Amino acid sequence: MTQAFDAAKLAADYWSTSIIDIHPGSINVRGFPIQELIGNIGFPQMIWLMLRGELPNAAQARLFEATLVASVDHGPHAPSIAISRMATSCGLPLNGAMASALNALDDNHGGAGQQAVELYDVIDARMQTGSTLENAVEQGVAAFIEANGKYLPGFGHRFHPVDPRATRLLAMVDESVEQHHISGRYAAIARGVEALLKQRKNKPVPMNIDGATAVIYAELGFAPELARGVFCLSRAVGILSHAWEQRGRSERNKGPMPRQMAYTYTGEAERHLP
Ligand SMILES: CC(C)(COP(=O)(O)OP(=O)(O)OC[C@H]1O[C@@H](n2cnc3c(N)ncnc32)[C@H](O)[C@@H]1OP(=O)(O)O)[C@@H](O)C(=O)NCCC(=O)NCCS
Repeated sequence: MTQAFDAAKLAADYWSTSIIDIHPGSINVRGFPIQELIGNIGFPQMIWLMLRGELPNAAQARLFEATLVASVDHGPHAPSIAISRMATSCGLPLNGAMASALNALDDNHGGAGQQAVELYDVIDARMQTGSTLENAVEQGVAAFIEANGKYLPGFGHRFHPVDPRATRLLAMVDESVEQHHISGRYAAIARGVEALLKQRKNKPVPMNIDGATAVIYAELGFAPELARGVFCLSRAVGILSHAWEQRGRSERNKGPMPRQMAYTYTGEAERHLP
C-alpha cells in the first residue's frame, strides 16, 4: 500500500506544474477557474498569465498586445511565410506547414529579438555598475561583436529604410514612459545602439521590428528567450493565414522561384567519366 502511494506520488511529481490544475469538472489556470477567464480576459492577457503567472495590468497588456499585432506577417518574401506556402503546396496539412515555417524563425529572421534583449541586458548591467549610457553601449556592442560577429540584432532591414512597425512601437513606448508605466531605460539603450551604428556606418541602420519589440519585452520584464517564443506566437497567425490561402489554390509543389527563372550554377563545366 505504502509502495503504491509512493508510486502515485512519484508519477504525480514527475509532471508537476505550477501552470494548470485539472480535476473532474474543474480547470484552474494559475489558480483562476477557466470559466472566469473565458469572456473576461483577452488572448494577450492569457498568454501573459500562462508565461508569467499573474495577469498584466492594462498598460502592460496594451504594450504586449501591440508587439503581437506588429509581428504577424511580413509577406511571402519573409522566409517563414514562404516556407508556409511552399510546404502547403507540397501537400502538408496546416499543422505541418506551420511547424516547418516556425522552424525558420532563428537569429537572422524573426528570432533576433532574443539576442536583442540579451544585448540590451548586457548594456543595462554596465549602466547599473556606473557606466554612462554611451560607454555602456560601446562596451556592450564591442563584446557582442567579438562573440557573434558584426551584425547587431534588432537593427537593419532588407526592405525598409525605416521600419514602420518599429516607429509606431517606439512611439507607444515613449507614451508609456510619459505615463510612468515603464522606465524607458531599454528604449534609451536601443536608441543608443542605433546612434552608435549610424555613426560607425555613416548611414542609418535603423531599429527593426525585433529591436523594437525587444525594447518592449525588456521593459515589461520578459526573459530573452521569451522574446523569440512570443514572436513565434504572433508570426504563427501570418503563417497560418498564408498556409490557408495557399490551400485554396491549385498550385502544387511550389518552389522558391517560378521554374522559368534560372539560378546561377557555380560548379564544374559538364565532364564525363573516364
Ligand atoms: C536584416 C539584415 C539581414 C538585412 O541585411 P542587409 O540589408 O542585407 O544588409 P547588408 O548585409 O547588405 O549590410 C549592409 C551594411 O549595413 C550594415 N548592417 C546592416 N545591418 C546591420 C546590423 N544589424 N548591425 C551592424 N551593421 C549592419 C552591414 O554591416 C553593411 O555594412 P558594410 O557595407 O560596411 O559591410 C541585417 O540587417 C541583419 O542581419 N540584422 C540583424 C538581424 C535582425 O535584426 N534580423 C531581423 C530582421 S527584421
